[in-house]
Amino acid sequence: MQLDKAIQSRRSIRKYKSRTPSWKKIIEAIDAARYAPMAGNNFTLKFIFIDDDETIKEMGKWTSQEFVSTAKSAVVFISNPSRLTNAYGKKNGEVFCRQQAGAGIQNFLLKLEEYRLATCWVGLFNENKIKHLLGIPEDHQIEAIFPIGKSNETPGKRNVRDLNSFLYFNEYGKDRMKTISKPEGRYPEGY
Ligand SMILES: Cc1cc2nc3c(=O)[nH]c(=O)nc-3n(C[C@H](O)[C@H](O)[C@H](O)COP(=O)(O)O)c2cc1C
Repeated sequence: MQLDKAIQSRRSIRKYKSRTPSWKKIIEAIDAARYAPMAGNNFTLKFIFIDDDETIKEMGKWTSQEFVSTAKSAVVFISNPSRLTNAYGKKNGEVFCRQQAGAGIQNFLLKLEEYRLATCWVGLFNENKIKHLLGIPEDHQIEAIFPIGKSNETPGKRNVRDLNSFLYFNEYGKDRMKTISKPEGRYPEGY
């Protein structure tokens, strides 16, 4: 799948078929996260692949999002921020840790999309309960949970904002794009 196509076709899917998705493809998608940029090349991510029905059901309970428990597989992204906070101080280290988790997650999502596996980024959950359920150490943080399956829904039309409303040139608020009327010729003045 072309990168453009994967970026544009990826959607959050919350209904899954009962068929178990290929664990090999899911592992390959996790593997893609390893290639994300990491501050000072400090790799802070860890992953838990889950295919146990009971555990997934419990995860549904602690996310308070019923669709999570209907998936046949799930992946949990975890970070251990200690190496980054040691290297860059608490504030920068914590920010970098979250940022590089996001970079890894996007690689993972695009690879799942290439394999036509459906998921939804779940960021709302009871962290203590999920940590306890999965035996995650106290000093690690859960970044997100991804229930995974074959899609059983057609998502509605996507609401992608117009680039004009938040792209500036040379200075915050300076917008040259608005002067271009032809959508196919959307180059800023002077380019
Ligand atoms: C940080 C983050 C947290 C999210 N948490 C949830 C969540 O807890 N439950 C959920 O159903 N969707 C969650 N989403 C998915 C968003 O609702 C979804 O990405 C957004 O509506 C755009 O739709 P799309 O992914 O189909 O483009 C989360 C997305 C992000 C980036």
